[in-house]
Amino acid sequence: MNQNTSERNNVLERNLGLDILGVTEAAAIAASKWVGRGDKNAGDGSAVDAMRAAFNQMDFDGIVIIGEGEKDEAPMLFKGEQLGTKKGPKVDVAIDPVEGTSLLAKGRPNSIATISLAPRGAMFDPGPAFYMKKLAVPHEAAGVVELDMPVAELLKKVARALGKDVRELTVFVLEKERHAEISREIFKAGARVQSHTDGDVAGALLAVMPHTGVDLMLGTGGTPEGVLAATAVKVLGGQILGRLDPQSDEEKADVLKAGLSLTKVLGVDDLVKSDDVYFAATGITTGFLKGVTVDDHKVSTHSVLMHRKLGSVRYVDAVYNLHRL
Ligand code: FBP
Repeated sequence: MNQNTSERNNVLERNLGLDILGVTEAAAIAASKWVGRGDKNAGDGSAVDAMRAAFNQMDFDGIVIIGEGEKDEAPMLFKGEQLGTKKGPKVDVAIDPVEGTSLLAKGRPNSIATISLAPRGAMFDPGPAFYMKKLAVPHEAAGVVELDMPVAELLKKVARALGKDVRELTVFVLEKERHAEISREIFKAGARVQSHTDGDVAGALLAVMPHTGVDLMLGTGGTPEGVLAATAVKVLGGQILGRLDPQSDEEKADVLKAGLSLTKVLGVDDLVKSDDVYFAATGITTGFLKGVTVDDHKVSTHSVLMHRKLGSVRYVDAVYNLHRL
């Protein structure tokens, strides 16, 4: 390991986990007021404001590398924004104050507030690349899959690695026009599709975590979401493969102009080049995490916090007094 890498890997010595957990909790609580009210930007805006305020009380020197929102001109913590008091470790920050804004607006499952941290310079910077083709698999299948394998072959490889029959596999696929062919091929191979309108960070986590009922995730979604998911995959084990997949001529031109490759397949270690990463998510609507609930003047949140260095995955339930928030 050269000196730069070792410095990078030691930069997050202090456990920033509980701090960022407070940030995702604050964002989820703020956004939860907008669940099922049909206004995704209001929900996102509340979460952004809460996240920024909570971040700025943290003793660290953060720079937003991934500030979700650009794709659909939603409110956002903007790329390059400085976060924290500047006292403390220099950190790359990826945030998605509301991952699944439409899920929130429609009161559907799996809307989450999420953050990941890595030492400065360690996160893949997607620049103007909004979309990426992704494949996420659990650790048993990590070494046997390729992003562009024909679907039938991919499913056979994953099934063999997991000791299952192809008919027993379930694939998380975003329900988008562009995925019609992938879904047809999955059906033809005899496996099941679990289709979700939004939320492929949750999709990648479900694919990589054991006993979730999802065996792999396949299809094109957001690039920022790919980097966020990659930090969680780093901790959980497994693989996420991605290649930039622009969905318009304008995006393609911008990606090429930024010097990014449209052919390179990025793995988990390209998306996050450090072993010292944190991933935190708090449920807004109930899905793979329970959503925010308000009961008897108390607000309850349910989160997951992962730290690669400690190999820890903590599920944290918090109860706040509504009057003191
Ligand atoms: P938002 O939270 O920005 O609404 O993103 C939700 C999401 O479904 C992501 O999970 C996914 O990566 C991306 O949008 C897919 O984008 P699109 O809906 O434009 O196909």
